Amino acid sequence: MPAAKQVIALLAGHLDGDNEQVRTVALQIAAAEARQGHVKTAATMKKLLDRPRDPPATQTRGATPAAATLLAKPRGDLEDLVTVAQPKARLSAMTLTSGVRERLDRMVRQQSARGRLREHALRPGSKLLLVGPPGSGKTLTASALAGELNLPLFTIRLDAVITRFLGESATKLRAVFDQIAQMRGVYLFDEFDAIGGKRSAGNDVGEVRRILNSFLQFLEEPNATDSVIVAATNHPELLDRALIRRFDEIIEYGLPDVDGVRDIIKRRLAGRASRSLNWEKIGGAAHGLSQGEVSRAVEEALREAILADKKTVDQAALVTALDARRAMREAVADLFNE
Ligand SMILES: Nc1ncnc2c1ncn2[C@@H]1O[C@H](COP(=O)(O)OP(=O)(O)OP(=O)(O)O)[C@@H](O)[C@H]1O
Ligand SMILES: [Mg+2]
Repeated sequence: MPAAKQVIALLAGHLDGDNEQVRTVALQIAAAEARQGHVKTAATMKKLLDRPRDPPATQTRGATPAAATLLAKPRGDLEDLVTVAQPKARLSAMTLTSGVRERLDRMVRQQSARGRLREHALRPGSKLLLVGPPGSGKTLTASALAGELNLPLFTIRLDAVITRFLGESATKLRAVFDQIAQMRGVYLFDEFDAIGGKRSAGNDVGEVRRILNSFLQFLEEPNATDSVIVAATNHPELLDRALIRRFDEIIEYGLPDVDGVRDIIKRRLAGRASRSLNWEKIGGAAHGLSQGEVSRAVEEALREAILADKKTVDQAALVTALDARRAMREAVADLFNE
């Protein structure tokens, strides 16, 4: 919401016929909205401001091809480094252990009430490190946080940030952190071990160390927009110790237990679950599979049921699909071990 004095300045500009003043104040309000993560409002304002004021006949003046461009869409240097999405995912739709859910909910609560915290000179939790095996829901969590907070999700393309050219990577990372400070959003550094690796490890020691040092330094900077920074990795053992204390929360994801498997399957099947499912047996078949693999197995069983004109998915179909997933995983593991 614009401050009262901005509204007064707008009205005064309007009454005085001072278009420049109206425009300047409106742009300030749009920028403030963008900083709050109110991307749609900001984009609507920007679009209105970019609209040619004269009738279509004289439209050639001040061509504004950017009129329809969403304000949140990264431009310039950032365009290659960051992708943006507006996810609809929800934490409540995810299968999480109560401990993980509690900590994520706490972050959402603090972020939602950040105004109140700021009044007391406190900042909400905003830096999150997610560790856990592939397919356990780390990337999905970043989407769900953006969904819960109604913020855009910016995913940083680390492969584009890390270049072979000395010094360039730190400059690119700087641009990303500038955006973090200016536009409220959820910023995901996926496969984070690429930069969070131990400073002594690897061949490209010099450059990787420089990037990590920059990252550590940037992470300490005050972030007035309270953007949420999520780093995710399935190789926590590679992470540098210096990172640990800089995150507000470090959340560990694990493979699902029997309850987790049941939760994923029930959610996915919704009304199509056969009534007589033995969860112990199904849990046994799913043992060692990730949340992602179990989800895929259920989808496979669902597809088969629909094509066979069956109304429900039964125990045997689920076990077959789970076994097939495990066989697939083992075959791939063998390929890599050879
Ligand atoms: N906890 C979960 N609850 C519900 N669905 C899940 C969960 N975890 C994973 N899934 C399903 O598996 C898919 C893949 O999960 P996701 O990409 O979040 O895993 P990840 O932990 O980021 O894996 P990786 O380490 O390989 O990047 C999700 O899109 C979702 O369909
Ligand atoms: Mg992931």
